Amino acid sequence: MASELEAPAQEVPPAANPEAQTAAPSKQSVDPWNVAGEVGEDGKVKAIDYHKLVEDFGTKLIDQALLDRFERVTGHKPHRFMRRQIVFSERDLGVILDRYEKGEPFFLYTGRGPSSDSMHIGHTQVFDFCKWLQDVFDVPLVIMLTDDEKFLFSEKRTVEEVIGYSRANCRDIISIGFDPAKTFIFSDYEFMGGAFYKNVTRFARMVTYNTAKAIFGFNESSNIGKIHFASIQGATAFATTFPHIFGEDEKKTATIPCLIPCAIDQDPYFRLTRDCAARLKYAKPSLIHSRFLDALQGPGSKMSASIDVLNTSAIFMKDTPKQIKDKINKYAFSGGQETAEQQRELGGNPDVDVSYQYLQFFMEDDEELRTIGQNYREGKLLTGELKAICIKHLQEYVAAFQERRSKVTDEVVANFMSVRPLTWGGNPRVQRT
Ligand code: TRP
Repeated sequence: MASELEAPAQEVPPAANPEAQTAAPSKQSVDPWNVAGEVGEDGKVKAIDYHKLVEDFGTKLIDQALLDRFERVTGHKPHRFMRRQIVFSERDLGVILDRYEKGEPFFLYTGRGPSSDSMHIGHTQVFDFCKWLQDVFDVPLVIMLTDDEKFLFSEKRTVEEVIGYSRANCRDIISIGFDPAKTFIFSDYEFMGGAFYKNVTRFARMVTYNTAKAIFGFNESSNIGKIHFASIQGATAFATTFPHIFGEDEKKTATIPCLIPCAIDQDPYFRLTRDCAARLKYAKPSLIHSRFLDALQGPGSKMSASIDVLNTSAIFMKDTPKQIKDKINKYAFSGGQETAEQQRELGGNPDVDVSYQYLQFFMEDDEELRTIGQNYREGKLLTGELKAICIKHLQEYVAAFQERRSKVTDEVVANFMSVRPLTWGGNPRVQRT
């Protein structure tokens, strides 16, 4: 499955790489460092097959019964990502719903590898979803910034650089709208030590080189930091790592699980973590997985902040309204026909159309979205018109973010990153235990 990619050139997602148009046929490959759709006999990149990932990884598809239960237990209509299978897969989500129902504690854990100082709309999606989950459950959220990972996995970056990215990304993440009373954001470089490091070593002792190789595809020339890193990302899933949030009594806190919202490519880390948790007698983390937001060039790729030198594959959170408009108009892959006449006659294909894909992420109203898709398919809506709707939504989304970001001062960042107690409510219908 996972193949390690030492050569930077291979890290370029095919669709963002013009040479990939002539690439040799290859299988779909998704691991924490690389996402690439299958390349067919014709040299064309196909969309990621998410059902195959569920099979390969051994996760579960989120079905209607689970969505119904989510709504019953939380009293909230499932998020549009859940309704549209953008968040499509899970591990033990039911365990978290059981706990919420009973008023038993759990927390949310997510993270980001700070690979550059600007985040794009693909990154903010998972965080938007986390904020929503935090609002729904009213529980603590820990957000890990893996600056150490980004140092270890790139030959080019310096420690100082990635620490700088952590700070900048932290400011972006805060701008999503997280509640400081319930949210702890940390940089691995800063937070390592104490209870965290104890768990890192407990984790590390459970994992042999053979296991790491099998799960992540490392080989004899991989640096030893990469091999060890899984213990760091894994140990963050344990409540005992955060005595300042859950208390010092490890016997009690060991049983508190977390729910990890993440993109599906992070699953290998947590498959390993669930295994280690059981052996350490810690609660196993539950997971809820999302698909990727396609790069502008279309299905089969994901946006990348670190490789987008030409600035043509991603919409960044610092882009101006004009940049957003130009990028969508120039680069967003279209499922429409060559000319307006042909479009009216033959209709377009929203399933491969990037503007339509983005609307699935951004547009709240299910009915409006459905109508747009149908009109596009029937040729009643032209590519330019569809792009205009997408541009408007993206411009509003990014402007609202920038407005919030302008209010995030250095003190606000320092507060979110400080090691401090948090306060939260949990399920209001149940007395807190
Ligand atoms: N490895 C992730 C990345 O490169 C960052 C990360 C750490 C993460 N812990 C996580 C992502 C938990 C999702 C959930 O982006």
